[in-house]
Amino acid sequence: MTARRALITGITGQDGSYLAELLLGKGYEVHGIIRRSSTFNTSRIDHLYADPHLPDVRLFLHHGDLLEVTRIMVLLNKIQPEEVYNLAAQSHVRLSFDEPEYTAEVTGLGTLRLLEAIRQIGLECRFYQASSSEMFGSSPYPQDERSPLNPRSPYGTSKAYSYWVARNYREAYQLFTVNGILFNHESPRRGPTFVTRKITRAVARIKAGLDKFLYLGNLDAVRDWGYAPEYVEGMWRMLRADEPDDYVLATGTGSSVRDFLALAFEYAGLDWERHVRFDESYLRPAEVDSIIGDASKARSELGWEPKVALDELVRIMVDADIRLLEVGRGSEWVDRPRWPGNEGHVR
Ligand code: NAP
Ligand code: GDD
Repeated sequence: MTARRALITGITGQDGSYLAELLLGKGYEVHGIIRRSSTFNTSRIDHLYADPHLPDVRLFLHHGDLLEVTRIMVLLNKIQPEEVYNLAAQSHVRLSFDEPEYTAEVTGLGTLRLLEAIRQIGLECRFYQASSSEMFGSSPYPQDERSPLNPRSPYGTSKAYSYWVARNYREAYQLFTVNGILFNHESPRRGPTFVTRKITRAVARIKAGLDKFLYLGNLDAVRDWGYAPEYVEGMWRMLRADEPDDYVLATGTGSSVRDFLALAFEYAGLDWERHVRFDESYLRPAEVDSIIGDASKARSELGWEPKVALDELVRIMVDADIRLLEVGRGSEWVDRPRWPGNEGHVR
C-alpha cells in the first residue's frame, strides 16, 4: 500500500511540527514548505528530519513562500498531495497592527493563492484552513461555529477573509475545504513572543537568576488555552471526516493572563507580583477581551476531546523552559532531546 501524502505549509511553526509528527506516526509521506532563511529555521522539526538519500525517508522539505504563487503551483503539481494543511501565516496579533499589509498578503491572500492554484491545476485534495478564534473578536462568548465574526485586528480580519475563501471554494467548486476554528493552543514549542511562552520562559530565567523582571501588557484578557498536540489531532480528524465542514476546537474554560501568570510563578515557587512590570507597548489598539470556545460539535461529530487542563499545561511549559536552560539551549524549544541515540528520526 502506498502512503497517503500530505503537504503542510507552516511546517516549521508550533502546529506544523506537531502535525508532521502526528502524520508521520500514522504512516503518511509528509511534505513541508519552508522559507529560505539566512539562519536555520527548522529547530522544531530537526528531530524528524533525515537525510533524503537514506532509504524509506518520509519527510521532505521544499523551499517556498505563500507570497509566490508560481512556486506554489510547481510544488502542488510535483508533490500531488492528497491532503493540504494551510498553517502558514503571519500569526502574531500585536505585530499585525504594525504590519497590516504584509499580514493581509500572507494570512489572507496566501490562502486564496493556494486554493486558486489547487483549482487551476485540477488537484484533487482535501484542504485544511487554519482559522482562528481571533475572528470572533468582540462576539459574546462562548463562541461556536454559528457565532458572528467580529474581528478586532488586521490578523483577525485576514483570517476572516481566508475563512470565507475556504467556504466559497467549497460551495462554488465543490472542493473539500474545512475550517478549523482553533482557540489558543500552547506548548513548549510556542513562539517566545506569545504571552504564555513569554511567561514560562521568564519564570525559568528569573528562577535561574538570569532575569529579574518580566514586562507585559494587558493582564485582564481572557483566553481559552489548550495543549497544541491535541489540537493537531483535531485538524487531522476534520480532514478525514465524510463531509467538509467547519469546527471549533477549544477547552471551554477561560482564564485571564493574570491567572496564567499566577499559576506559572507559583509552580516555580515565585511571587509574580514582585517580578512583573507593565509596558504599554504590548497593548493593542483594539483588544479581544474574552474568548471562550464551545467545541460540542467537534466532540459529537469527530470524537475530539481535549484532556490537558490549564494547570497541567502550565507545568509542561515551565518544566520544559527550565530544562532548556539546564541544557543551555537558549530559547530553542527542546521537548525531545536530540543527543545521539535519541534522534527521533521517523522512518
Ligand atoms: P507559528 O508558530 O507562528 O507558525 C507559522 C508558520 O507559518 C511558520 O512555519 C512560518 O515560517 C510560516 N510562514 C509565515 N509566513 C510565511 C510565508 N509568507 N510563506 C510560507 N510560510 C510562512 O503559528 P502556529 O501557532 O503554529 O499556528 C499555525 C496556524 O494556526 C497559523 O496560521 C495561525 O495563525 C493559526 N492559529 C494558531 C493558533 C494558536 O493558538 N497557535 C490558534 C488559531 C489559529 P517561519 O518559521 O519561517 O517563520
Ligand atoms: N503577546 C503578548 N505579549 N500578549 C500579551 C502581553 C505580552 O507581553 N501582555 C499581555 N498580553 C495579552 C494580549 O493582549 C492578549 O490579550 C493575550 O495576552 C494573548 O496574547 P497572545 O499570546 O499574543 O495570543 P493572541 O490571543 O493574541 O493570539 C494567539 O491566539 C490566536 C487564537 O485566538 C495567536 O496564536 C494567534 O495566531 C491565534 O489565532
